[in-house]
Amino acid sequence: MLLKGKTAVITGCNRGIGKAILEDFAGNGANVFAVVRKESDEFNSYIQELTVKHENRIKVYPVFMDLSNEEEIKAGAKSILGMKDEDGNKIPVDILVNNAGISNPLNSLALTKMETVREAFDVNFFGPMLLTQLIARGMMRNKRGSIVFISSSAAYDGGANVEYSASKAAIIGEVKRLAVEYGPYNIRVNAVAPGLTATDMGNSMNEEDEKIALSMNIMKRKGRPEEIADAVTFLASDMSSFMTAQVLRVDGGLR
Ligand SMILES: NC(=O)c1ccc[n+]([C@@H]2O[C@H](COP(=O)([O-])OP(=O)(O)OC[C@H]3O[C@@H](n4cnc5c(N)ncnc54)[C@H](OP(=O)(O)O)[C@@H]3O)[C@@H](O)[C@H]2O)c1
Repeated sequence: MLLKGKTAVITGCNRGIGKAILEDFAGNGANVFAVVRKESDEFNSYIQELTVKHENRIKVYPVFMDLSNEEEIKAGAKSILGMKDEDGNKIPVDILVNNAGISNPLNSLALTKMETVREAFDVNFFGPMLLTQLIARGMMRNKRGSIVFISSSAAYDGGANVEYSASKAAIIGEVKRLAVEYGPYNIRVNAVAPGLTATDMGNSMNEEDEKIALSMNIMKRKGRPEEIADAVTFLASDMSSFMTAQVLRVDGGLR
């Protein structure tokens, strides 16, 4: 119960690493604003099942926003910051996990349109930055918080498209700076940089590229979403109370 009584915002909760983070947070006692792009019956019933599984000890509030759409991000953040509990008190947000992201099939810059580069930066970098700016305002008022970004091993080894690798490297610079800005407010800012992980995204490489990618990690396998979630829970929790401005690489020992 590392996160008992805390409230978290997690983006991209409907599948992959985000879903594993949501489940790990719920298992550790956190209430979650589960951010997904679109409302669906499937996600609504999944949330219900999750709360029942935890005997209704936690709450999961679905929030909808497309991270490439500033207006949707602003409206979503407003609804999160304005949410009240049963006693009419505002629910303070303790944790923000910027997980949602996109990648494109491996390509060279020579064959990449600038529109594609901008699209990747919108979802992987600018959208999460705006959401962070808005959610952190509440954390600054409360003088506490932990923000976790999901970068990628591609930020270090260029193992993916230029727009993906660059947007994930930009996150690292952002983490370093925001840790400085938010530190005086008792808000920690860190990142997890996963290696190839078994999700829709991590399974989308062709066989040859995947073989090369796996040959470069000591453990010679993909990560499981739960293994990435464990690292996020650690950084979100008080277990890492003296850690900020760090990037935790969870990549099976990529060389
Ligand atoms: N898997 C890997 O090998 C790997 C490695 C390193 C880093 N990462 C990073 O880990 C994070 C999670 O990746 P994953 O592997 O879980 O990927 P995934 O299975 O493809 O899931 C991506 C998530 O991001 C959401 N998303 C995409 N575009 C969005 C948008 N415009 N607005 C809001 N949400 C959007 C998706 O929602 P929809 O279902 O609506 O599309 C989905 O929930 C990403 O930041 C990724 O870059 C992944």
